[in-house]
Amino acid sequence: MSEHRPPFLPGDPGARAPVERFIRVDHAGELGAVRIYAGQLAVLGRRGGETVRHMAEQERRHLAMFEKLMTERRVRPTLLAPLWHVAGFALGAGSALLGEKGAMAATAAVEDVIDDHYAKQAQALGDDEAALRDVIEEARADEIEHRDIALEHGAAEAPAQALIGGVIRRSARLAIWLSERV
Ligand SMILES: [Fe+2]
Ligand SMILES: [Fe+2]
Repeated sequence: MSEHRPPFLPGDPGARAPVERFIRVDHAGELGAVRIYAGQLAVLGRRGGETVRHMAEQERRHLAMFEKLMTERRVRPTLLAPLWHVAGFALGAGSALLGEKGAMAATAAVEDVIDDHYAKQAQALGDDEAALRDVIEEARADEIEHRDIALEHGAAEAPAQALIGGVIRRSARLAIWLSERV
């Protein structure tokens, strides 16, 4: 165990709990992301184009990575998974109803929160969890790319962008908070 981390007594349930929480919340987030893009594509259809499909494809890969970790480490999913399934789709579809820029505004706001979330997790993991840290950093690099793509595609020009961004940021942080606990 690396020195900067608090020492745990053998058998202390706290020793493994943070990593399980990390995997559970990340899986929940990636599930939400897959559903957000599914909702956007349902509304945008062909107009969604290659950009949204590219991001959706990466989210499916992230979800698969965390699903694998869950199986390997016997981590149960959050009890709120069914809610994120529905809420993610609703957020994606709802934002796309405001047009392509609305969809991009939602993406930029969500990915901003996720970038921050993954950065904090990666920082909290020691070398004994290097494999998990690598998965998190890999997903994080894609999320940063998604945010930049969204900004390039007019996220900041969407109608009521500041309002949408603020609501989505708070919702995403709440979803993280809940998924870490339930
Ligand atoms: Fe992702
Ligand atoms: Fe993403």
